Amino acid sequence: MKAVLEGIVKECRPYTAMGHVATYIPQLAVADPNKAGICIVTHTGEIHCAGDCYDRFTVQSVIKPLILLLALMDSGPEKVRELVGVEATGKPFDAFNYSDQALTGAHINPMINTGAIALCTLIHGETYDEKFNRLLELTRKLAGSREPELDEAVYLSEKRTGSKNRALVYMLKAYGLIDDPAEELLDCYFRACSILVSCRDLAQIANVFAHHGRNSVTHEQVFPKEFARYVNATLATCGMYDGSGEFALTVGFPAKSGVGGGIMGVIPNKMGVAVFSPALDKRGNSVAGIHMLEQLSQTLELSIF
Ligand code: DON
Repeated sequence: MKAVLEGIVKECRPYTAMGHVATYIPQLAVADPNKAGICIVTHTGEIHCAGDCYDRFTVQSVIKPLILLLALMDSGPEKVRELVGVEATGKPFDAFNYSDQALTGAHINPMINTGAIALCTLIHGETYDEKFNRLLELTRKLAGSREPELDEAVYLSEKRTGSKNRALVYMLKAYGLIDDPAEELLDCYFRACSILVSCRDLAQIANVFAHHGRNSVTHEQVFPKEFARYVNATLATCGMYDGSGEFALTVGFPAKSGVGGGIMGVIPNKMGVAVFSPALDKRGNSVAGIHMLEQLSQTLELSIF
């Protein structure tokens, strides 16, 4: 397996030249665009890695499935469905252009910024500090590691430049979908995006989703099976934003990308996979990352379709 993964990294690294690192958060612009790594965790807990798989990067939007999961665990599926829907938006992750009609939960998806920010309000905690810490602890538990931690520089960079996300929060407030203080809510979201992870962490997390909320090694049921189904379904339909249809066709399993260059993939009953490569396409998805997943899917016949 190691040789297969090394071959994939070698063949896909050249695709890094076809993308660009994210610059709209200045601190992300310092990333090395040539990096490429992959890690898989199998149902028996075997870990196989290749390339820059131990590099750490900020999780960015790959935290969205965990925000959704914690909102489901804390507030239940009814409240989650009422606040944000499940239909794919087919739009960029930070789109403003909803419609001329009144904005309702039905127009919002948990995998885009508006949905993820709104769902932070459904995470339990006296303060947004506490909500964030509970999310960080969930990330560590699913990753089976204490290593995920806040990257203060990326968080501050995002906080300084996050006008679009601020606008989305005020839009949610304008339509009466949320009531909480904007800056505290944004702070929780910005910090959530700025958690440092490695491919290994993300592949471990994906493996729990692949096994219906159960740690496939310890057999501990970490969260209810139906929540894994909920999260995996939203990943399959909107996890790669306006590239989700193409990704379903070429790769063929639930996945979530982030502008830090990470992508987490869930292969039901088989394995969790994660790739990292910071050069992105115009949709904010890792170029070499998608190619690595495409090759992995073809080689091991992983498409669920
Ligand atoms: O909301 C943002 O701008 C970022 N913190 C996360 C966006 C992101 O990762 C989009 N994914 N490809």
